Parts: sequence; C-alpha cells; structure tokens
Amino acid sequence: MSDKPWDGRFSERTDTSVEEFTSSIDVDKRLYPYDIEGSVAHCRMLAKVGVLTDEEATALSEGLWRIKRELDQGNFIFDDSLEDIHMHIEARLLQEVGKVAQKLHTARSRNDQVALDVRMFLRDVTRQVIVQLQDLRREFIQLAEQHVDTIMPGYTHLQRAQPVLLAHHWMAYYEMFSRDSERFIDSLKRTNVMPLGAAALAGTTYPIDRKYTAELLGFPVVTANSMDTVADRDFILEFLSAASICMVHFSRMSEELVLWSSSEFRFIELADAFSTGSSIMPQKKNPDIPELIRGKTGRVFGDLFALLTLMKGLPLTYNRDMQEDKASLFDAVDTLQSCLDITVKMLPTIKVNIDVLRNAASTGFLNATDMADYLVAQGVAFRSAHAIVGQAVAYALANGKELHELSIKELKNFAKQIEEDIFDHLTLEHMIARRQSAGGTSTDNVRAAIETARKQLDLESRSDQNQQGSHEAAKS
Ligand code: ARG
Repeated sequence: MSDKPWDGRFSERTDTSVEEFTSSIDVDKRLYPYDIEGSVAHCRMLAKVGVLTDEEATALSEGLWRIKRELDQGNFIFDDSLEDIHMHIEARLLQEVGKVAQKLHTARSRNDQVALDVRMFLRDVTRQVIVQLQDLRREFIQLAEQHVDTIMPGYTHLQRAQPVLLAHHWMAYYEMFSRDSERFIDSLKRTNVMPLGAAALAGTTYPIDRKYTAELLGFPVVTANSMDTVADRDFILEFLSAASICMVHFSRMSEELVLWSSSEFRFIELADAFSTGSSIMPQKKNPDIPELIRGKTGRVFGDLFALLTLMKGLPLTYNRDMQEDKASLFDAVDTLQSCLDITVKMLPTIKVNIDVLRNAASTGFLNATDMADYLVAQGVAFRSAHAIVGQAVAYALANGKELHELSIKELKNFAKQIEEDIFDHLTLEHMIARRQSAGGTSTDNVRAAIETARKQLDLESRSDQNQQGSHEAAKS
C-alpha cells in the first residue's frame, strides 16, 4: 500500500481530503528550476565525497534535466497526493531512472531542500528587482533632465509652500527608489547563503561537503547552524519589508499622479494609452494605473504581515506552518515586479503642463519666506521679519493681491528697510536660484544631483555586468 516516500510507519492510506489540504503544489511548482538545479548539485557533491558513484550521480542528473525539460514544456502532470514540488520531482525521477532515484534524498531533508529552493528563487528575484529599480531610477533622471527649468509649487500639508523645480521633485523619487535598491542589495547578502546539508534539523552523519555544493550553486557562503537553517525565514521577511517600503514610495508617487492629473490640479496629463475610460461617463479619462499601484500596496503590506504573524509563535525548528510562506512571498514578488514594469513604461508618457505649474507657483504667497529672508539681510531678526511679512500677507489678501503686486509704497508701510530691489527677490527664478544649500532646489544643485545620479547608475550597471561575467565564468 506504500505510495508515499514517508508512509512506511503508516497503516492507513492518507485521506484524500488531507492530501488536498496539505498539498502546496499549486503554489510551489514555480520553484521547480531551483529544485532541479539544487538536486543536481547535491548529486554531484554526494559523488565527490563517495556517497554515490559517478555513474549513479550521472544517471540521476541526466534524469533530473529530462524532467526539467518536461516541466519547461508544460507536459508534467501534477497530483495533490504528491504534496509539493520536491516530491513530484522525486516521484517522477523514480519512473525516469528507476531504483537509483531512491538515493537522491541521501543526506538531505525537504526542510533544507525547501530552504535552498526559496533562497535560490529569491536571489534571482532580488537581482531582477535591483535591475528593474535601476530602470525606474533612470526614468526619474530622464524626467528631471527634461524639467530643470520647470518651476512648480512645493507643498507642505498639501498647501502651497515654496517654489521648487519639478526636476527636484522627480529627483526626490530617485532618492527614495535608490534607498529601496540599497535595501534589496543588503538583504541579498543574507539570502545568498547556502542551507543544504542542515538535513532535517541536526545535520547529517554523511561526510558531505557543503562548501562544494555552495560553489556549484554560486553561493559565497554556507549557513552556520543547522537548526537555524531550517527554521529561518528572516531573509523572506527582509525582502517583504524592503518590498513594502518600496511600495510606500510607489503609493505616494501614485497619489501625486492621481492628484496632479485631476481637473483641480491639471499639472500633468497621463497618455491615453496609459489611462482607461468609464463605462457610463463618456467624458472620463481615469488614472487607473497609479490608482491600482496605490491599491496593490496594501497587498504587499498584507504579505509582510502574514509572514510576520506566521513566524512569531513557531518553536524551533521547521513547522509545517512554514509552507504558507510561499504564497505571501510569490504574491509580493509578482505585485512588486508588475508595479515596477508598468511604472517604467508609464513615466515617459506623462505630459507636463508647464504653464499651469508656473502659474500655481506664482499665486498663494509662495514668496513670503523670501520676503522675510530679504528683511533678515537688512538686519531684521527672522522672527520679526516673519511677523512683518505675515501682516503684509494679510493686507495683500484683503486687497486681492500677491506680495509682488503691492507697490513699494505699500510695502514700506510694513518695513522701512524695503527697497525697489525687493521685487527681484520675489521672482520665481530668484527664489529658486538662491536655494543653494546642499540638497536645496537651486538649478545648479539639481543639475549636479542629476549628474551624480547618472554616474551612480552607470557605475551600478557596469558592476552588474562584471558580476554577470564572473558568474558565467564560474558556471562553465
Ligand atoms: N512543502 C513543504 C514546505 O514548503 C516542504 C517541507 C516539508 N517538510 C516536512 N517535514 N513535511 O514547507
């Protein structure tokens, strides 16, 4: 009656409802390329240390590659009774190469095997995300370059505050997504650690060579403690945290794009190809892409919280609960990568209404701070200058004017130090040009920031290519 690799001690057949309930094949089948690559490396290592003969290892490896082709082509038949991708491949290997297949699992457990598969998967994904973030950051640089002369209102409390360059605003997103990239790069260090050889939890009695397996699979190091190895999902939590923070940035960007494309703002227009219509209101053009990105942010937070909650009460070491980690991880990966893809395509199609931005920056007393700064330069203490300008703003408001529309006579009523040159100080260009403090919005600063960012990206993509080269060399 034995049809499962683990049912030697069982006297009853597993109930089919149990098979359905415990099966994870629908979710974890996408790990198959890693499962096969990992198994082939495991075979080669077992042959190297003499646990398998070379002929056995070759027969197993060839069988595994044939199964990979079957899976690649979609000809593989899945079955709930085989639980997960690891057991599916092992069962198929038995049909493919016969009895020798039963030796594959020597010195290994599904507990370290699944840890290996997920680490390999996440290592690939993290590298892809880092490259996708480079593409995204490049788009922000591009947008910034197009708008080094575009002046817009900067906001606090969603109230117009001070003029800034639109380029400065785009570069703010460049910074956010650069930090995201750093977080992914950092998490990769802890993902890229080889777990195989921990076996079930305690290590194994076979004379295995874990470093050799690591070398074959391109891991720089092996995990240190077998119990931690099969119990640890921190590396997934780190990815999900980095993904959640990245989605916060996406969501804030999306919120701005939604606001800016409304008739109330009219700062930008999204391309027709990247908008959708309404089934009832013929006039509508809706910013569904940013809205959906904002919405999908909640999914990724949910995935992070699902795994945090899943892990928090688990005693060491492996518990079956942990099988649930993959649904959250895959959902977050797919969501994040689709948001990265669509944003890279959407950003260059945004049409900016430069005049609307400029007009918006010209009204609403955005030069009030600069008028105070002018008075400070004439020897007035900042707090008094603040109060004086406050009164001038109240007066201008009551008269339906902006500060720069008041006459010199009117202005002098508030402070005798004010001279004709105040009007220069209150122009948009002047206000921008004078904000030269490091990180400020002056055109020179912003140009320099763009230049630095370009160099940084070039450096990153060059070092990616180098790494690619050395990995290819290591493989062959
Ligand atoms: N499908 C399982 C998972 O994803 C593999 C490990 C199963 N281990 C076990 N002892 N049942 O976690």
